[in-house]
Amino acid sequence: MGLAIKFGVIGCGLMGKEFASAASRWCHLAGDIPRPEIVAVCDTNPANHEWFGRHLPDLKYRFSDYRELLALPEVEAVYCAVPHSLHEALYIDIIRAGKHLLGEKPFGIDQAANAAILAELAIHPSVFARCSSEFPFYPAARILSKWIDEGKFGRIIEARFGMRHSSDMDLTKPINWKRMASINGEYGCMGDLGIHTEHLAFRAGWRPVDVCAKLTKLVETRPDGKGGMAACDTWDNATLLCGMRDAKGVEFPATFEMKRLAPASTNSVFYEVYGMDLSARFNTDDPNALVFTTSWGKEQAWSRIVVGHKPVFPTITGGIFEFGFSDAILQMWAAFVAELRGLPVEYGCFTPEETRLSHALQTAALASQRGRSVETVA
Ligand SMILES: NC(=O)c1ccc[n+]([C@@H]2O[C@H](COP(=O)([O-])OP(=O)(O)OC[C@H]3O[C@@H](n4cnc5c(N)ncnc54)[C@H](O)[C@@H]3O)[C@@H](O)[C@H]2O)c1
Repeated sequence: MGLAIKFGVIGCGLMGKEFASAASRWCHLAGDIPRPEIVAVCDTNPANHEWFGRHLPDLKYRFSDYRELLALPEVEAVYCAVPHSLHEALYIDIIRAGKHLLGEKPFGIDQAANAAILAELAIHPSVFARCSSEFPFYPAARILSKWIDEGKFGRIIEARFGMRHSSDMDLTKPINWKRMASINGEYGCMGDLGIHTEHLAFRAGWRPVDVCAKLTKLVETRPDGKGGMAACDTWDNATLLCGMRDAKGVEFPATFEMKRLAPASTNSVFYEVYGMDLSARFNTDDPNALVFTTSWGKEQAWSRIVVGHKPVFPTITGGIFEFGFSDAILQMWAAFVAELRGLPVEYGCFTPEETRLSHALQTAALASQRGRSVETVA
């Protein structure tokens, strides 16, 4: 196994733990990919350090001020998973400290914050930065994206991308920062779910030209966890109808759906591409399968192939077994460290330039909602 990369984690919540778990089972990867070694963690709530101390034998430092973590010369790279209102300040400080960065979506609470982060990256070209986005690493999704690259769909009729959650259908669920515009941002559900719907499309070289957005707020208040109610002021659901242009300049309609109120969906990410020669659908509800059309002359039939465990970075798991969310997280991390070390990577993490596109689309969607208009995506 190649040399380890010493990491610091800022934000010891849900996603900080996912990274620590992935780093802890690096032996799952069959290739010679440098191992992330988490030597330092930081969270403003010291109670959140406890789990990391218990599970990470390499952990040397625990901080409540991230500046102390950034001052450690041995920390080469940082995973930063904090609320959106903190992305701009923390990502910029991480970049200025010369640490490589895997940031979290939406990579800035709004377009201005994203532009500031990207400007800082431009000043520090030696810093390698990517944005977390794991769903295209499902083997079945990877086949779909390869088929796009190979032109197998022929002329595209339309494409649909989405992410649907249903936990907010439970009106007794207490509020958290992801439902407060002051911390989560004006994008609401788009800031949380948007990049998951966009990664595969943007990487295919498809670019949204314009957008007509329909955003809805259905739940106005939620329990505040202290016996009262609190304002829930973020957009719950978003449907974006876009004119999409492929790398050859051919346009087709595409929709991006980002929904927190989608009945019976636990964390459903879907990609659907309909073409004159072939159509295909992937949904994490059926994570090992790819559904595609076969043609019987004048008619088409849907076929379902079970792909199994055939990820971008080979693992010790046999190809007949199933692939899931934590496998996708491990694959994304393998892509990040491999690319950081200059190793060949067949499918890489979401790039800073792709976050710029994401913000352009979501900012245009907000304008479209405000003006009941079709907005150009700049
Ligand atoms: N890639 C994915 O699938 C995925 C899933 C969920 C969330 N996210 C993203 O991850 C990020 C974090 O989300 P989460 O669900 O882990 O949130 P979380 O609330 O579970 O964790 C955030 C942590 O940051 C800590 N924190 C707050 N301010 C801090 C500061 N100044 N310094 C250090 N720590 C601080 C909090 O105490 C908390 O423990 C967000 O950007 C979110 O959009 C990504």
